[in-house]
Amino acid sequence: TIGNSTNIHWHSCSVDKDDRHKLLHQKGCVIWITGLSGSGKSTMACALNRILHQRGKLSYVLDGDNVRHGLNKDLGFKAEDRAENIRRVGEVAKLFADAGVICIASLISPYRRDRDACRALLTKGDFIEVFMDVPLHICESRDPKGLYKLARAGKIKGFTGIDDPYEAPINSEIVLKHGEPCASPSEMAEKVVVYLENKGY
Ligand code: PPS
Repeated sequence: TIGNSTNIHWHSCSVDKDDRHKLLHQKGCVIWITGLSGSGKSTMACALNRILHQRGKLSYVLDGDNVRHGLNKDLGFKAEDRAENIRRVGEVAKLFADAGVICIASLISPYRRDRDACRALLTKGDFIEVFMDVPLHICESRDPKGLYKLARAGKIKGFTGIDDPYEAPINSEIVLKHGEPCASPSEMAEKVVVYLENKGY
């Protein structure tokens, strides 16, 4: 029995991950971008996607906000919904990586336990966590969607950073810190690319 399913069996195909790796000349992996709303996750994800594309690497962005329009439209923002949101995106990202794609997942993913569960789905090294380390007051001053304002006014309940937790990562592969030199979205994306190159992706 797996979850709620009984009598199910794993079926393998004769074309495997290594075959796809050779065909695509690239190794799939998951770049997991975590950070507060307004920390620049989506902008960085798109910048990274563009650089990889320009270098002939196939990548795909799974953005929390976008995935909530379809696959995860049944989920809200209470802790168990966020956990299920992250679990599903983690499973989808794993499939992308298995297909040979560099999958860029961009979600607040506020709970360490949920992020670590996604990490555990992948082969060691294939899950690369990127922490957008931007202080709350900076995210709040940017407020691109006006959501912090609504949260402060009590019009959104359980907003991450205001009245809902964000557990900052302690051992991310990459930390992109606000206020450091070379912190434009494309410069930050370059840092991720350098990391990927060094790791052979
Ligand atoms: S999570 O926590 O990982 O499940 O969130 P995610 O799927 O990344 O979705 C975050 C976007 O949803 C909007 N939004 C909220 N965020 C946080 N808390 C609450 N209560 C909330 N309600 C709506 C918000 O636009 C987030 O977008 P980003 O891109 O992070 O700013």
